[in-house]
Amino acid sequence: MKKFALPAVILALCCGALVSVVAQDAPKTAAAPAAAAPAVAPAAAASAAEPKDEICFEGRKGATEITKRELKPGWPNVKCSPVTGAALWYGDPYDGTKPMGKVPLLEKIPAGMAVMKPRSDKLNLLAQCGTACHNGVYPKGYPKDNKPVPIPTMVAMLPELQNFSHGRGAIWCLDCHHPVKRNMLVDHQGGEISIDDPQLLCGKCHGDKLRDWRDGIHGKRIGDFTSTGKKRWFSCTECHNPHDVQHGERNKGFAALQPETPPQLPLGMKDASHEKRHPIAH
Ligand code: HEC
Ligand code: HEC
Ligand code: HEC
Repeated sequence: MKKFALPAVILALCCGALVSVVAQDAPKTAAAPAAAAPAVAPAAAASAAEPKDEICFEGRKGATEITKRELKPGWPNVKCSPVTGAALWYGDPYDGTKPMGKVPLLEKIPAGMAVMKPRSDKLNLLAQCGTACHNGVYPKGYPKDNKPVPIPTMVAMLPELQNFSHGRGAIWCLDCHHPVKRNMLVDHQGGEISIDDPQLLCGKCHGDKLRDWRDGIHGKRIGDFTSTGKKRWFSCTECHNPHDVQHGERNKGFAALQPETPPQLPLGMKDASHEKRHPIAH
């Protein structure tokens, strides 16, 4: 009996060590004999009991995050891609949206039928911008022109401003932000634009893109696809970072996403080669 005691202890220790290594990656595999790894089991059980929130991004990663939750039992608000982390499917396409503000030439859309997700919910600094910081008293003085200058205080709060890239040196903060109400954007006449309606800001310089977006050939809409149906429109800043429209390999602000695998074929269909044929002969 004594002869086997030492190897048995070594085996138990090895096993314990193995379980503790595996447990860091996948807590579920720690369901090993409790005696073999008494110190590991309770910790693993605790982390298994609190499943981590699943978070997808809708447009820009880091700026359009949405947490998966159940709208009703078994019916999630969103399904996330396990490959890219992008939102792939919506249980309710209007979840978290508000009616779009007035956009010239879109007045004919009945109230509430065009909705967007407000940007202000996603911006941590916004609440301070026009109140605590740029409240008309502080900071003292007022920018005399719109020339790019270093602004270390702002960069410390929003590091992306360090490499500000939009307009190749031609535009600066107050071309977009309202000079006295910094929690608002500004139009060409000095009027206020809500941060939740960035299309009105972007459209003042990118009129062609605003026109395309209005017509549905730039950007994205989800929802009811009948012509008069309710739709959620994606706003410009859900896809473009206004402080950096030139980063990434292609210098356009977009990193290429890995393509998804094709969806499962309907039962009984062998392949999707019929899709390669054009239905109209030419
Ligand atoms: C091309 C227009 C444009 C320019 C130029 C611009 N911004 Fe912005 N800025 C925006 C828009 C639009 C938002 C809202 C972004 C969003 O919805 O994600 C924003 C957001 C912000 C925020 C809030 C960020 C947060 O996360 O709460 C700060 C602070 C800010 N800008 C500062 C600056 C400063 C300082 C400059 C100049 C160096 C500058 N911006 C230049 C358009 C611009
Ligand atoms: C004050 C004018 C102005 C405003 C407002 C403005 N832009 Fe721009 N934008 C420019 C200029 C100028 C360029 C540079 C064009 C070029 O180099 O050909 C540019 C370039 C871009 C590019 C292309 C980048 C590239 O180099 O190919 C994108 C994308 C873009 N802007 C998106 C936006 C979005 C989204 C908004 C609103 C948040 C916005 N812009 C607001 C002036 C503006
Ligand atoms: C659903 C995402 C999405 C939305 C919403 C969106 N864009 Fe874009 N935009 C793109 C993509 C993708 C490109 C192509 C970038 C590339 O070529 O890599 C682009 C390109 C652009 C360009 C550069 C075009 C060029 O010639 O290089 C501009 C300017 C622009 N968008 C402005 C806007 C404005 C203004 C709005 C809002 C009215 C808007 N976008 C809304 C995704 C979007």
